Amino acid sequence: MSTILAIESSCDDTSAAVIVDGVIKSNIITAQVDHRKYGGVVPELASRKHQVNILPVVQEALTVAGISKNDLKAIAFTRGPGLLGSLVVGVSFAKSLALGLDIPLIEVNHLQAHVLSHFIDAPKPSFPYLCLTVSGGHTQIVKVTDFLEMDILGTTIDDAAGEAFDKTGKILGLPYPAGPQIDKLAAQGTPQYTFAKPQIDGYDFSFSGLKTSILYFVRDQEKENPGFIKRNLSDICASVQKSIVDILMDKLIKAAYQEDIQQIAIAGGVSANSGLRRAVQEAAVEHDWDIFIPDFQYCTDNAGMIAIVGHYKYQQGLFSSQDITPAARLKM
Ligand code: KG4
Ligand code: ZN
Repeated sequence: MSTILAIESSCDDTSAAVIVDGVIKSNIITAQVDHRKYGGVVPELASRKHQVNILPVVQEALTVAGISKNDLKAIAFTRGPGLLGSLVVGVSFAKSLALGLDIPLIEVNHLQAHVLSHFIDAPKPSFPYLCLTVSGGHTQIVKVTDFLEMDILGTTIDDAAGEAFDKTGKILGLPYPAGPQIDKLAAQGTPQYTFAKPQIDGYDFSFSGLKTSILYFVRDQEKENPGFIKRNLSDICASVQKSIVDILMDKLIKAAYQEDIQQIAIAGGVSANSGLRRAVQEAAVEHDWDIFIPDFQYCTDNAGMIAIVGHYKYQQGLFSSQDITPAARLKM
């Protein structure tokens, strides 16, 4: 039996999961300090909180799975990319525990884990498939040809999709992270406002022009009739969400068409967005796609997705040595 403990600590959530023969037995996620009052994740606070959370989270993951630490065959951990001070807590913990139990370590790339989160539950994609990974730190279209073989077709040249939501929310006076709230408000509004569309070749994305366009729009409207944002918040949110989703879908549809791939997945925190989920479902009907949208608990950062990569690497004997270090800018 391959029983693996997985640890994720790349940003602000501490998470641990247990996977047995490819089946997730537990996936514990501790939402951290309230970063809201700071308008974003404060790296130093995140790091300190991981130190407090890591042991109880790991213990709970083992308890829920009904596993003793002596049953573990390997420990998988997020090596990067992410905040260095956060990664170092998970990496050091994984190394110490692996050393103490005399079992191998498996390093996992956080972005690769988002892409493979579709193998946690059925239905699972077949190869090749395209994955649109959209989170607070990343926006990528990835072509996946095997479990551990993937190419980045396109990426953002400035802000990530989640940042576009969060920064726009800040302009509108919404607390961090604004993505989920824009989603909620958008459901009650009409997308009646249009903003600047980026003109970027290929499969790359850009969101900074949109952000500026929204900033100027609301600033001018507020000047002319004070209280404009407050009175029209739902419509503005619906318009913002539609603009971001349109930018994402344009490139995804183009990539699917040019690569001639009909297996389409989305992953990362922004894949929880109901507008994006709906757009992918509509495109699936129009373009005859098979689509893969993760369960909500596997959209945002979680150790379950680290565990599934750990499982495939374990099968191939891809282990890391004890001198491994975290890598904030790890490439896929
Ligand atoms: O993957 P994730 O949990 O962490 C990173 O690796 O960044 O993604 C967090 C991002 C945040 O920007 C948050 O605003 C966004 O995902 N997000 C959403 C929604 N839920 C989370 N954005 C739009 N709509 C949502 N429902
Ligand atoms: Zn992530």
